[in-house]
Amino acid sequence: MKFSLCIGALAAISGVAADTSNPPIRNIYTFPPNHFIENIAVRANGRLLITSMSVPQLFSIDPTVATPTAEVVHTFSNITGISGIAEISPDVFALVTATWDLASTRAELGSIRIWKVDFRRGPGGPGPGPGPATTASSSSPTISLLATVANSISFNGIARHPTNPRLLLAADSALGAVWRVDLETGAYGVAFQSEVLAPVGTEPGTNLGINGLKGEGGHVYFTNSARRFFGRVGIDGAGNRVGEVEVISGSADAGADVVYDDFALDGKPGKGGGGGARAWIASHPSYAVEVTFGGSGGGPASQRVVNDTALLLNPTAAAFGRGSRLQERTLYVTNGGEFVGFDLVNEGVVAIDLS
Ligand SMILES: *[C@@H]1O[C@H](CO)[C@@H](O)[C@H](O)[C@H]1NC(C)=O
Ligand SMILES: *[C@@H]1O[C@H](CO)[C@@H](O)[C@H](O)[C@H]1NC(C)=O
Repeated sequence: MKFSLCIGALAAISGVAADTSNPPIRNIYTFPPNHFIENIAVRANGRLLITSMSVPQLFSIDPTVATPTAEVVHTFSNITGISGIAEISPDVFALVTATWDLASTRAELGSIRIWKVDFRRGPGGPGPGPGPATTASSSSPTISLLATVANSISFNGIARHPTNPRLLLAADSALGAVWRVDLETGAYGVAFQSEVLAPVGTEPGTNLGINGLKGEGGHVYFTNSARRFFGRVGIDGAGNRVGEVEVISGSADAGADVVYDDFALDGKPGKGGGGGARAWIASHPSYAVEVTFGGSGGGPASQRVVNDTALLLNPTAAAFGRGSRLQERTLYVTNGGEFVGFDLVNEGVVAIDLS
């Protein structure tokens, strides 16, 4: 009851139509303690690829079975954890590994690496082992190193450039920058840097600037956790910034303690012709925030706050399911977890049923 009243009060403040009930939220999988779950990407076959910044494994979870388990896809050597993961071509993913200092959420300088994780099989794919008989869903991918980044201490969210298949974009939460990485040569550099992408301090809570990012159309959409907004900026085919950063929504307008983390885009921002677009932003400490903005990307945004202090535990990222219409209306949200004493517990992934 208290819960519903809070949502109602919040909605009134932020000018959102009152919505006193959450959509159904289901737990999918809870990891053992001390797996800080950080990011998610979804394969075309519906499997969730899950990263943790505190263990060196990439996990795969089938969310459609009765009792999901976390299969270890790969264990990386000489790293402490994985941050961003993104699909860069069909069933090929890029991800970021490093030696992380979790207290400051920074990587040891020189330890950030970008890898390709290629699940393709058979003729036409470079994966090992010919043959249609292979069960692609559970087989191990081919892993290859793309780049070792000498001069950053924070690659957080990553995304393929929206129109240039050769480029990966990476959010540098410490520098306040978007990096580009050439997916063929591994060459990398800062695409653009700005104070509006930067953090505001060095303490936890203020030390992460640009956090999640996604490319769509001619824009990069992103959150800045410390500066408390979701926005976008135009980019050209080479990843250079075109024009000014636009603020779409503020997390303070969603609630006094709401801190945006990574997000999923729903719909086609900027493509017009149909009800606009939405972002679902995983937000600390107990929220998933739906931001609806205009079909052309313009117009005032509205925010709907899903608040569940039992099932949303420091949400870090979100992604829609794939493989069926039902899955496409299921939002998977990763939980970083909560501290009980010195142990991080209840980290995992939950499903929000939006259909
Ligand atoms: C392991 O990673 C650390 C930090 O990046 C690096 O200094 C060291 O050379 C690496 N060791 C090996 C064996 O790769
Ligand atoms: C979310 O729910 C918790 C627990 O009921 C409450 O303390 C908090 O104020 C709520 N947040 C918002 C923004 O309404």
